[in-house]
Amino acid sequence: MTSHRFSSRGPLTGRIRVPGDKSISHRSLMFGALAVGRSRITGLLEGEDVLATAAALRAMGAVIEKDGEDWVVDGVGVGTLLQPGQALDMGNSGTSTRLLMGLVASHGITATFTGDASLSKRPMGRVIDPLSTMGASFTPSPGGTLPLVMEGMQPAVPVSYRLPVASAQVKSAVLLAGLNTPGTTTVIEPVPTRDHTERMLRGFGVDVEVEEQKGERIIKLTGPCDLSPCDITVPGDPSSAAFFAVAASIVPGSDLTIENVGLNPTRNGIFRVLEQMGASIDYLDAREVGGEPVADLRVRHAPLKGIEVDPAIAPSMIDEFPVLFVAAALAEGTTVTTGLEELRVKESDRLSAMAAALALAGASVEETEDGLTIHGTSGTPLPGGGPVTTHLDHRIAMSMAVAGLASQGGVEVDSTEPIATSFPNFTSLIEQASA
Ligand code: S3P
Repeated sequence: MTSHRFSSRGPLTGRIRVPGDKSISHRSLMFGALAVGRSRITGLLEGEDVLATAAALRAMGAVIEKDGEDWVVDGVGVGTLLQPGQALDMGNSGTSTRLLMGLVASHGITATFTGDASLSKRPMGRVIDPLSTMGASFTPSPGGTLPLVMEGMQPAVPVSYRLPVASAQVKSAVLLAGLNTPGTTTVIEPVPTRDHTERMLRGFGVDVEVEEQKGERIIKLTGPCDLSPCDITVPGDPSSAAFFAVAASIVPGSDLTIENVGLNPTRNGIFRVLEQMGASIDYLDAREVGGEPVADLRVRHAPLKGIEVDPAIAPSMIDEFPVLFVAAALAEGTTVTTGLEELRVKESDRLSAMAAALALAGASVEETEDGLTIHGTSGTPLPGGGPVTTHLDHRIAMSMAVAGLASQGGVEVDSTEPIATSFPNFTSLIEQASA
């Protein structure tokens, strides 16, 4: 483990560009692998999670190669995934695991999924349940975890599935299984979650129907589907941009432009909440990239105020709470968050990990069953401290790095390795922005 102390380095200024969106990168590779012919991807995130998806798809027959700055995928087509010759090592990546389980579920192949210590604790029952109804069978480890062996069913049985948790991964797993299932697969979403699967499948020529009824989203596709190859430009990841938006907001004197940030309304909750807290964010050159709304974000330091965060916004910023907690720790007054049970089953239990880490850095935090209550410093730098424990969770590491930038003594992060899963050049961009 490599520990690192992140210390105050002065204002963040200039222009930076964060890597490609992780959710869209995974899906670009998967849908490319299901198309017959060649897809080209520009701006793919070359993080470990996405590379785990690429390796698994190669093991099932797709040809995936880097071509200059781009990536090209020669797909095998829906229904013709090959039996992988070895266990699929998913590393730290829940998205790779759950979406690929969906793909395998409706193919007549057997696959073994393994992962690191963090991923091996995460619940897979949420995808095992609907995929079993479709006909797949599973031998998981105790508690419905990895390592697990699954056997797909071809032809699978279409289902109509109402999501019991707000999860884009579960929604996507069922829809991906539906691609090779004769008949209509339906997912009912009581609370909207990120909609990249629906948008991107349409880009690959699949007729995905989305209906809104009394606040619920009803998503349908009828298989078996043919996917046509597609050229994709991946926008910058709003989840990665969020670390810099918070850093620029809390470090005095900052004036930072983050270029090419994806602003899909199912993803941009963090920026809306920061603005409610008083952040100064200008959306410059709003445009569309790869079918997604994108803008350059100019973020200037501004005094933040604590708020009560509406739990309804949680799905649109589910990965950004750790860094929001850091913003709250520097705000004036109290920030209250609720309805965040899902944070306990991410790469770590993000409520307890952030409560412990922020307390160690000198913040005033109370952990509740479903959220954190944070009493801010009104802009006074945190004392700092550490080493904080990141529990193999990239977002805990990066959030506490941001806290370090707004601290007196720096924050020591016990392990920076997990950052490479989603944001390999994070530390060098911090150095660039604060040079
Ligand atoms: C993701 C969905 C979310 C998110 C994850 C990426 C996706 O997970 O936390 O980082 O790409 O579908 P859940 O579906 O568990 O909310």
